[in-house]
Order: sequence, then C-alpha cells, then structure tokens
Amino acid sequence: MLNEANLNKVDELIKRYPEPRAALLPVLWIAQEQEGFISEKMMKHVGNLLHLSYSHILGVVTFYTMFYDKPHGKYHIEVCTNISCMLRGSDKILSTVKNYCGVKVGETSLDGKFTISEVECMGACNGAPMIAIGEDYFENLNEEKTLELLNNLSNNKTVKFSKNGNGDDDDDEEFGGGD
Ligand code: FES
Repeated sequence: MLNEANLNKVDELIKRYPEPRAALLPVLWIAQEQEGFISEKMMKHVGNLLHLSYSHILGVVTFYTMFYDKPHGKYHIEVCTNISCMLRGSDKILSTVKNYCGVKVGETSLDGKFTISEVECMGACNGAPMIAIGEDYFENLNEEKTLELLNNLSNNKTVKFSKNGNGDDDDDEEFGGGD
C-alpha cells in the first residue's frame, strides 16, 4: 500500500490527466521509490487506484526495464549493449560486470549490492560504451574504468558520473558513498 504522503501525490497526479489510467507510469515510479520494487500486492493496489486490471499493470511493469517486480540490489547496473555501445566494446563491459558480481544478467550479487540488466539504447551513444545506475550515466567505459567504478561502489566510495549523458567529462558529478 502507498503511504499517506504518496497517496496525496497520486491524487495530485491524477488531476493532471483526463483519465486516472493515464497517470500509470508516474504512479508506478512513486510506488517503486517507496518500496524499492513493485510487488504483486502493490500492483493490485495501484490498479484499484487507477481502475486498471492487475494483468494490465503487470504487463507495464515487466515491459519497462526501469520498473522492478522483485527486490533489486543496492545498485542496479544497466549495461547498454545496443549498436553504438556494441561497436565500442559493450560485450567486454558486460563480461567485466558479470565476472565482478559473480552473477548472470537478471541476477543480484550475493552481497545484495549489485543487480545486472542488459538494456537497449539509453540515448547516450556519444558516450558509448556506457552503463546506467539509477538515473546516473557512466560513459566512455573500458574494462579498467568499469572495475574501478564497481570497486568504488563496493567500498562505499563516491564515484564520478556524467550527469547529462552527453559523454562530456567536464560536467561530471559525484555519486554513491556511504551505506
Ligand atoms: S547504443 Fe548504448 S547508449 Fe545508445
């Protein structure tokens, strides 16, 4: 169930659309932010709020890689393997991530820190090859930089990321750190 603050947010969101169902994506985002993933119970709850069936919600949640229907690790590593990233070595980036985490795509590392996904173009082709972690992009990667990134995250150190997904290191910001 959404908490009271989030139910209020949903009420406000619904008012912006001609029909409640049109608010589905932002409402699912709120649900995921609250619980870390979207459980079957939460999908039914959202369905009741927006007058949509559970199967409709399930279809949407499982279609978009940004939504999780089961708990994820602290960091969701999304490795782009689409054409630009593929041509610039995304296979090596994906192998490096899988080897480091000791799991396959779709799985979570035993320490609960990393979940790996393979995704389509994230719109940051000029920074290929790249990975996304949450809303942050890490671009122009090679195996060495990828290992450094994973090590830093594993050790709760801050790391640099390219805020705008433009492949330009000049506007890097800091990410992570702490538990
Ligand atoms: S192909 Fe990887 S970001 Fe576009």
